[in-house]
Amino acid sequence: MTELNELFPEVTQIRDPKLKDAVLKTWQLALERGHWRIDDLSNVPFTLLVQTKTSLVEHTRSVTRMAMAVAKERNDLNMDYVIAGGLLHDVGKLLEYEKRGDKVVKSQSGDLVRHPVSGYGLTCEANLPLEVSHIVISHSDEGEKVKRTPEAILIHHCDFIDFEIAKRRETK
Ligand SMILES: [Fe+2]
Repeated sequence: MTELNELFPEVTQIRDPKLKDAVLKTWQLALERGHWRIDDLSNVPFTLLVQTKTSLVEHTRSVTRMAMAVAKERNDLNMDYVIAGGLLHDVGKLLEYEKRGDKVVKSQSGDLVRHPVSGYGLTCEANLPLEVSHIVISHSDEGEKVKRTPEAILIHHCDFIDFEIAKRRETK
């Protein structure tokens, strides 16, 4: 069986071992709560808003790597928070979506609670630092109501870069 750290190799670049374990624990909790098997993950699309072949794992890694590249260039951001926030920003999608037959659809709980909020809950349960939970809850529209940290600004923009380019490429 695939292990979570094989799916998200960027996690090994987190320097703080406690933070690294908490990131993996959050994904594990999301799998359990959403009733997913780890091998389902490569078939979960990263969005249901547009038709896409990009999986949640591919999108998560792409956002994380883009953010790491920018953070490295700038050299004034907390790289551990950037990696953890990138890897976790969409973890709540495992609760927002569910498998129905062969399809992945919006879940009942997803109709009531969007993934930034359910993801935030999971990060709190896994004892992530508030700085990382903040990145998760503020990465999308929810973040317009707070003052995003620099790391959260970075993940927010990398997320939308990946989403908008996928939308442009994959829709006719
Ligand atoms: Fe995302």
